[in-house]
Amino acid sequence: MTDHVLIERRGPVQSIRMNRPDKKNAITRDMYAAMAKALTDGDADGDIRAHVILGVPGAFSSGNDLQDFMAVAMGGEGGREVYDFLLALANAQKPLVSAADGIAVGIGTTIHLHCDLTFATPRTEFRTPFVDLGLVPEAGSSLLAPAVLGRQQAFALLGLGEGFSAERARAAGLIYAVVEEDDLEDAAFAAAEAIAAKPPEALKIARDLMREPRDQVTARIKEEGAHFRARLKSDEARNAFTAFMNRKKSG
Ligand code: COA
Repeated sequence: MTDHVLIERRGPVQSIRMNRPDKKNAITRDMYAAMAKALTDGDADGDIRAHVILGVPGAFSSGNDLQDFMAVAMGGEGGREVYDFLLALANAQKPLVSAADGIAVGIGTTIHLHCDLTFATPRTEFRTPFVDLGLVPEAGSSLLAPAVLGRQQAFALLGLGEGFSAERARAAGLIYAVVEEDDLEDAAFAAAEAIAAKPPEALKIARDLMREPRDQVTARIKEEGAHFRARLKSDEARNAFTAFMNRKKSG
């Protein structure tokens, strides 16, 4: 197992922290596997009432590891880790709270569409450059973002790849609240503890009623995944990954 994901318990709250600061929390296959396991283990544990998903100061996540994408683009096997993580996320049985500071790219943005409460600092920018990378939206975002943000803001996010400041993300409904950096984790844990103090059966029914039909989200994750895997091997994607790898050499 990787040490790039730290799992801790604070009473009834499980925290899942991406911890790969030197790569701005780019997510590797091992990290997806560790996070999927944490979610399913936490869901199965009667003492856990909520999950909190965290990054490090300045970087929630820079998205999928582009080296891993490049490996697939060059003919390698992709593996199931991302898919298993997305299913665990979309089907999580316990409420999900997330806290983002700084960079939130790709799945570092779309993950929050599955969360019940997301806190972000003023310097956070949410961005999904899927199309610019020759790719397509993932994590069910092509279904969830139009439902959450409305079609036009969703197009700006997923189609144009516009950056959303924390304030814009809050106004658009992508996140719950903007809080200062020093208060971020306290706010997220306080929210998770408030959730944990609610009657769990009633809260579970209420939450289940409020979520998009899970089978539709799962079907969309699958449909997006088929396009995504094909796009990873496209010239558009290969060229974009190569440009990222070479950017420091040429700059
Ligand atoms: N995959 C792999 N490595 C990544 C990465 C990613 N998604 N994002 C950042 N890194 C690495 C960089 O290559 C760099 O490694 P190095 O120090 O060995 O050269 C390190 O993390 C720091 O990144 P750097 O680009 O120097 O930081 P920055 O603050 O200038 O920029 C980003 C941060 C996130 C804006 C920029 O790294 C970026 O655009 N990353 C790609 C994001 C992306 O397209 N993700 C996929 C979405 S589907």
